[in-house]
Parts: sequence; structure tokens; C-alpha cells
Amino acid sequence: MSHLSDVHTPHRLGIILVGAGSGERLGAGIPKALVQLAGKTLLERCIETSLSAADTGHLVVVAPAAHAAEALQAVEKVTERSALTWTTSVVDGGAERHISVENGLAVMPEWVDVVLVHDVARPLTPVSVFHDVATAVRERKAGVVPVLPLTDTIKRVDNRGSVLETVNRDELVAAQTPQGFLREDLAAAYEHVAEAMTDDASVAKAAGQEVTTVGGSALAHKITTAADLRLLEWMLDTHVSAESTHTRSKAAES
Ligand code: C5P
Repeated sequence: MSHLSDVHTPHRLGIILVGAGSGERLGAGIPKALVQLAGKTLLERCIETSLSAADTGHLVVVAPAAHAAEALQAVEKVTERSALTWTTSVVDGGAERHISVENGLAVMPEWVDVVLVHDVARPLTPVSVFHDVATAVRERKAGVVPVLPLTDTIKRVDNRGSVLETVNRDELVAAQTPQGFLREDLAAAYEHVAEAMTDDASVAKAAGQEVTTVGGSALAHKITTAADLRLLEWMLDTHVSAESTHTRSKAAES
């Protein structure tokens, strides 16, 4: 497996894991990041993947304020058994996702040049996606989002649920994480967040920045409800592989 630092300047990758959501729709009674998936919490799984994305870098875990101790324990548990030289921080999240990202960015060391922001709610995202995103950010000097094509027919509806039109899905993709940016671009974009946005690419676009795509993975499926958790358990049980779920986007192929 090639590591980023084999082909790029080492020591400069930063990863922000946002895991401060309440996970109400999952109904587990604890924050989603601390829910177990086949014997490990979602947070532990994301920390493991992040630390294997490069030999070294800085990892920021953004955790629910009331659960900072558990987040710290998860970081220590994973770093203890790895010989890697990552530095780490744990910070409190905010009421909205964008505040959580801002809190993470605020403690990112100066030497970091590329930042990946990843949802802890996507615990099986293959490390290959982290590699693809970080590599594309460095090559393109632009924001990068992993995406999947849509397979359902997409309808626009009114507030009563009546269909207004069928949308041309050829122009639509589903955005996943990790989303990657030059650190200075992401910091500049987050200075101007005027409203709650659900991903970092939206913040970058609102700031007038270029955002490009690479192929995402079905394994990066986001856990929202209990059914999503069951689906990922099944994927683990049946060894659905990263290779079989990795796609290439049109932009990545061009
Ligand atoms: O709510 P949603 O599932 O869209 O959240 C996406 C990711 O953002 C999750 O990993 C969640 O923990 C994180 N988040 C956060 N702070 C918030 C809301 C969401 O870190 N206030």
C-alpha cells in the first residue's frame, strides 16, 4: 500500500474527524461517535483509518463536549498500539456541524498544508479514498469531494409531496467525506460562513472557491438511522471490499 508521504512532502497532512453530532435519529441514547459497530466505536474506526492515511500528520477529533474523556480514550487506545508519529488534539464540538469544523480548524498546527474533514458517521470509508482526496488536493490545488453517481430517478416535489418534475440525474452526484482542501483555502472559506451548511464543499463554494470530485465508495455510507448501522454490520460480515465499492467520477477520469 502506498502512503501519501511516499510521494508527497511528509508531515503536512491534517485530518479533522467531526463526531460531535447527537445522533438522535439513530436512537442509541449516546452520541453516534461512541456507538459500537462490530466491537469498535465509530470514532475508533475513523481514528484507525485516519492514522493509516499517512506515516505522520495531525489528527483533530471533534467530540461532543460532555464526552471529551471518552474521545481522548479512543485516541489513546488507537495511538498506543500504533508506531506512527501523529500528533493529536481533542476539541469540543458546537451546536452545528460548521461550528464543529471551525473548532477543529482552530487547533490545526501551522505546518499543516492539506486538511481532510471527515464525518465520524462514515466509519467504513476506505483509506484509499483518503489517499485519493489528499493526492487530488495537492495536484489540483483545489477542493476535492468524493462522490457517487445517483441510481434512483430523482423528483422535485412541492411542500405537499406532489411531483413537480423529474430532475436530470446525469448532473447530480451524492457527496461523501473526507473532503479535502488546501488548509489556507478552508480557513479563508470558514471565515465567511453565513448559514448552517451540511458539508465543507458548500462552504468552499460559497466563498467562490473551486471544488472538484473524485470517485467515492459505497463503504463510505453515512450512518443516520439504525438501519444504516445494520447495513454496515452486514458489509463487514460479508467482507464487502473497498475495491468492489470504489467508483471513479467523471471529473476524476477526465
Ligand atoms: O448530522 P449529520 O449526520 O449530517 O452529521 C455529519 C457529521 O457531522 C457527523 O459525523 C456528526 O457527528 C458531525 N457533527 C458535528 N457537530 C454537529 C453536528 C454534526 O461534529 N453539531
